[in-house]
Amino acid sequence: MKDSLPEALSPEACANKIFEISGARFEAAIAADLWQKILKHKWLMSEKLGRDIGLRTACIDFLENMDQALREYMDYKRKDILTDMGAQRISAEIWDTISDSQPPKQLVQKRIILPLKEEDLSRKHGVTPPKTIVFFGPPGTGKTHFVKAIAGVLAWWYIEILPSMLMVDGPDRIGANLHAVMEKARALEEAVVFIDEFEEIAASRHAANRVDKSITNEFLKQVPLLKNKGNKILFVCATNYIRQLDAALLRPGRFDCIIPVGGLDEDGRRTILERLMSRLNINAANVDLGLIVKMTARFTPADIEYLFQQVAQFSFEREFSLKQNYEVTTETFVEILPRIRPSLTDEIIEEFQKDIITYSRV
Ligand SMILES: Nc1ncnc2c1ncn2[C@@H]1O[C@H](COP(=O)(O)OP(=O)(O)O)[C@@H](O)[C@H]1O
Ligand SMILES: [Mg+2]
Repeated sequence: MKDSLPEALSPEACANKIFEISGARFEAAIAADLWQKILKHKWLMSEKLGRDIGLRTACIDFLENMDQALREYMDYKRKDILTDMGAQRISAEIWDTISDSQPPKQLVQKRIILPLKEEDLSRKHGVTPPKTIVFFGPPGTGKTHFVKAIAGVLAWWYIEILPSMLMVDGPDRIGANLHAVMEKARALEEAVVFIDEFEEIAASRHAANRVDKSITNEFLKQVPLLKNKGNKILFVCATNYIRQLDAALLRPGRFDCIIPVGGLDEDGRRTILERLMSRLNINAANVDLGLIVKMTARFTPADIEYLFQQVAQFSFEREFSLKQNYEVTTETFVEILPRIRPSLTDEIIEEFQKDIITYSRV
């Protein structure tokens, strides 16, 4: 019983005690904290060994093992944070689902992935790896997909922050919640922190809006921390409505890259179509892929996924009612395609082109 009673020493006395025993000098506040731990360690060791090991042995043993214990503690904390934030590992293969010809794949490769991976080469040539990025473009064009793909090839943690998570405590607390999230993310070694639908929390609806001031102010505080060289945190936001974002956020020096994600070219569509075809009950020899590529002009990746859902449902129902094997053919696609309107209309493309001119920065 006597052993487990903490000795009530002042912080200075703790520092002196530790110094007497080990020769190591700690700041008083830290020493007070360490002293408590040393006492606990003494109790634990004595229990284990079935005899009183004495303060001197406990203190020396504790300090010797402190490095290890600290490392274990940090690993433990990190695991806690990962679960808490819903951090995910993303397969590197998702990068290969994107055609090399699909913008902005090449740009992302050269401007983001390589500089972050090739740190020494970046330093040698004075290239500053980007840390803060915005993707913008019409819905369904693959912005979220790109962010996941980046986390995948970098082999960094992927942490998606929903605007609703930041808004739970009301509009005034959005900045404070972002602050807490970023503090936790920093404890991880390497992470992509992603806020999707960024306009929901960063739109400038009115000049004095509490919402955008809270998030804008916090973001401006985070920028220098993110740009700190030792930090391996990539902060990415995506928005369908770049025009709505608070102008203060988009000024130079804040986001390193503002990148448009737009329509697919033929090769981009072909890559996605081929991948999705493999999931259908289909004999590839019976399908004119070239024709389908032509017929899906102005389809976004989301539209193409929708098309495949419709085709799959159609062929499933056919086989169910006919009671015999139904294989998807070109005709199946030709029948279903006219029912689906591509998301990218003339008007949307025209507005997007204007946004590219006004906002892009790479
Ligand atoms: N290059 C691609 N290859 C395959 N699927 C893709 C590709 N780009 C996007 N997708 C898929 O299309 C859908 C819409 O993409 P998403 O990234 O959510 O668009 P956005 O975030 O721009 O609205 C998602 O299901 C996504 O997985
Ligand atoms: Mg998205």
